[in-house]
Amino acid sequence: MKAVAAPRAPQGAADGSRASHRRQIKPWILALTVSALLFVNWGFLEDNLLQHLLSGPSSHGDAAFRSGCAQPDPLVPSRHPSLDQAYERIAGASFRNATVRRLSGAVQVKTESFDDLGAIGEDPRWDVFYNFHRYLQETFPRIHQQLQVEKVNTHGLLYTWPGSDASLKPTLLLAHQDTVPVPPETVDSWTYPPWSGAYDGKYIWGRGASDCKNQLIAAMETLELLLEAKFQPRRTVILSFGFDEECSGLRGAASLAAVLHRRYGDDGIAVIVDEGSSFEQTWGTLFAKPGTAEKGYLDVPITVRMPGGHSSVPSDHTSIGVLSELITKIESSRYPTRLAELNPYFTQLQCGAAYSPDFPSALKKLLLGRLQGWGGRRHHHHHHHHHHRRHEDEDKGACVGKPDRLALEAAKQGPAIRYLMQTSQAVDVISGGVKVNALPERATVVVNHRINVGETSRVVKDRLAALAAEVAARHNLTLHAFDGTKAGEEPPESITLGTNEHELEVAPVTPADGSDAKSPYAVLAGTTRALYGDEVVVTPGIMTGNTDTRHYWRLTKHIFRFSPGYDPEDGPGLGAIHTVDERVSVLNHVNMVRWFVTFVRNMDEADLD
Ligand SMILES: *[C@@H]1O[C@H](CO)[C@@H](O)[C@H](O)[C@H]1NC(C)=O
Ligand SMILES: *[C@@H]1O[C@H](CO)[C@@H](O)[C@H](O)[C@H]1NC(C)=O
Ligand SMILES: [Zn+2]
Repeated sequence: MKAVAAPRAPQGAADGSRASHRRQIKPWILALTVSALLFVNWGFLEDNLLQHLLSGPSSHGDAAFRSGCAQPDPLVPSRHPSLDQAYERIAGASFRNATVRRLSGAVQVKTESFDDLGAIGEDPRWDVFYNFHRYLQETFPRIHQQLQVEKVNTHGLLYTWPGSDASLKPTLLLAHQDTVPVPPETVDSWTYPPWSGAYDGKYIWGRGASDCKNQLIAAMETLELLLEAKFQPRRTVILSFGFDEECSGLRGAASLAAVLHRRYGDDGIAVIVDEGSSFEQTWGTLFAKPGTAEKGYLDVPITVRMPGGHSSVPSDHTSIGVLSELITKIESSRYPTRLAELNPYFTQLQCGAAYSPDFPSALKKLLLGRLQGWGGRRHHHHHHHHHHRRHEDEDKGACVGKPDRLALEAAKQGPAIRYLMQTSQAVDVISGGVKVNALPERATVVVNHRINVGETSRVVKDRLAALAAEVAARHNLTLHAFDGTKAGEEPPESITLGTNEHELEVAPVTPADGSDAKSPYAVLAGTTRALYGDEVVVTPGIMTGNTDTRHYWRLTKHIFRFSPGYDPEDGPGLGAIHTVDERVSVLNHVNMVRWFVTFVRNMDEADLD
């Protein structure tokens, strides 16, 4: 990707400022090279050069960091009387009251999705979406009268506003109509009832208020406003709303994306914005973090089958014991912490180093080393170094390879950061045994994984197969590792590893080079800085969860998982998504509408490659 490749330009192609550093430090290089050759090792030499580069009142590394985190200028659409007036109205009390009513009403239409839903048309729990469609139709009359409205796979909603120039690829906004359920036993814990859509003057409360009926309503408000203001798009605008995002979007987003793909083809869409990450205060800086990457996803069910029999004459190990042995092996090591340069977190570090007052100096030093290409060289000269040992411990077993010092240092910020750079594993579900006097013939566990950017599901499958092979050999069992053996059909005396329909590779990473003015990323970042001020630093972000965008990969390279609403008083953070007291601040919501109106207009005027 351009954004992360830039800093790795070959030495000769460095920009002016960096070239002048090199002249400046020449005597150091000479002196240190001589002493290095005589007395010390490469690690010491590099540490000193880095120390020199990072010292002094104006940090010498900043130019290098900034080139990896270019901030586009605020981007404002051209002047247009009726559209400008419409934009002004969004900030007023009467629009605010009206959109509060409309969002509150949307929350009041219950649209829970469940993992065990049957077929559409058979399972009556799907029928709630008819109510939701009726609500949208009554609430946004212009859209329903003037645009093309299609129902896809019964409940998917597709709105198309054709642009005047068919050669321009469409802008596509996504959201989902469904919400996670409210467990009945938690209803009493809510400040306001979960389906009330209560408004207390600051927040709209209820299930779906921030995940993500707010984003759906904001997209609808945007089109309704633009229709009312007689906007005439050059570039087609499309809204696509799935209805089972909370259970993988296999019926909703998958069907909608298929329709769009037939219509527009590979790379036929200019940009997609879906729900996702938002704003975050880190290292003393406010960042906007549109998600440009998603970790992969893999559930692995593991089943051990052993002979049954009476418990009074047991074998030394039952299927439960053998499975436990395998679980212990799995948990005895973690996947390595590694920061691939295409991982958006690598760009985030450069943004922090370039713009944040509180960016840790230890990280800055390692980051500069990596950018200058010393990280790689260091490893080659290094494996007999004693101070490397402690890192090897943290990596043991899961994967061979040299430790990534930058990633390990960054991971000290805590597990939430570490898992932006590491494949996770969690043993989440177990079952086995039916009766105390019968040896269990079958025991099953499901291990959940989120795969690191730069890796594939193959890494996980190979590791689990190797561990299972050791256990199978010890207990004389046959191994069926990812060979298509179906659940429930595992042969006797075996260990079987499988996958399920939720398997998903790491998403393609969206290009995010702020210096490329012709990129959708620059339009998105410029829109964000126009609305919230240019002190906001925009950086690509990474999602550890998955959204409906998984079904849209073929349609465009420019996918952003971004919830663009922000309320400076409320501060960053998501409003209790998936839990009690889900809510959204009204200012956050109104700002989201302003952002979408600006973005749609900016996209309309953008000159993209
Ligand atoms: C907006 O609603 C508030 C009460 O929620 C009311 O006091 C105010 O007059 C309303 N403003 C407009 C312009 O409708
Ligand atoms: C393993 O199984 C094979 C065939 O089922 C049998 O011949 C062999 O004796 C077994 N070995 C052990 C150590 O139980
Ligand atoms: Zn969501």
